Amino acid sequence: MSAQYVLSDLTKTYAERSVLNIADLSIQSGEILALVGPSGAGKSTLLRLLNFLEFADDGQLIFDQQVVTPDLPLAQRRRVTMVFQSPALLKRSVLGNLKYGLQLRGETASKAELLAHLDQVGLADLAQQPATKLSAGEAQRLALARALVVKPDVLLLDEPTANLDPYNVGLIEDILQKNNAARGTTVVLITHNVFQAQRIAQRTGLLVNGKLVEIAPTALFFEAPVEQATRDFVAGKLVY
Ligand SMILES: Nc1ncnc2c1ncn2[C@@H]1O[C@H](COP(=O)(O)OP(=O)(O)O)[C@@H](O)[C@H]1O
Ligand SMILES: [Mg+2]
Repeated sequence: MSAQYVLSDLTKTYAERSVLNIADLSIQSGEILALVGPSGAGKSTLLRLLNFLEFADDGQLIFDQQVVTPDLPLAQRRRVTMVFQSPALLKRSVLGNLKYGLQLRGETASKAELLAHLDQVGLADLAQQPATKLSAGEAQRLALARALVVKPDVLLLDEPTANLDPYNVGLIEDILQKNNAARGTTVVLITHNVFQAQRIAQRTGLLVNGKLVEIAPTALFFEAPVEQATRDFVAGKLVY
């Protein structure tokens, strides 16, 4: 596997306070990587850097063998999409929301293709409904479809199932796994749900105070953690 991202001594500082300081991390192309850690650990900040929404103060971020700078070409930026905890949908139909993401990029798709995408997330029957009428789970599945319709190389998810019922959590995990298997999409998933990490991530990493404490194949991470902080986290002793 090749590296999708390589982070070296990457630091991000807000108002002179260092909130992220990653010495060394490679994210492999095609892997599902879960990132866990207490609130305020810097998880969302890291995702913003991986999505080129913000840039590091120091150190280096390599994306696909290219050093990331604020001048990163649009074509590269567009290879990464993101899904947040609460989806921001437009006051349009479900189908209209799906189309919009493509239109922003000057792309189109046939209605049949769009419906096939909606079908993958179980929303084909609701295509003409206003997106504002969707349940939380349906809305998040639409957000996921919107992120996937542009066929990204990397999908970043920031606590995507935090507000959802188990049924929808299962659907979303299934969609992520199928997409990863079918397209080799690199997935970086921030989650508070350790069972979710265990279910779908090939590797899991723990962030605490802006630092990557430990990263390992998921089974090892949970069954034989090396670091004390990871042991505490796995035992539920690290306060959120
Ligand atoms: N734009 C910002 N300005 C100042 N501080 C910020 C900003 N964004 C995040 N922070 C701070 O950075 C730290 C990490 O935040 P965040 O990445 O959101 O953590 P997490 O997602 O792990 O909960 C927190 O202490 C937060 O208050
Ligand atoms: Mg966060």
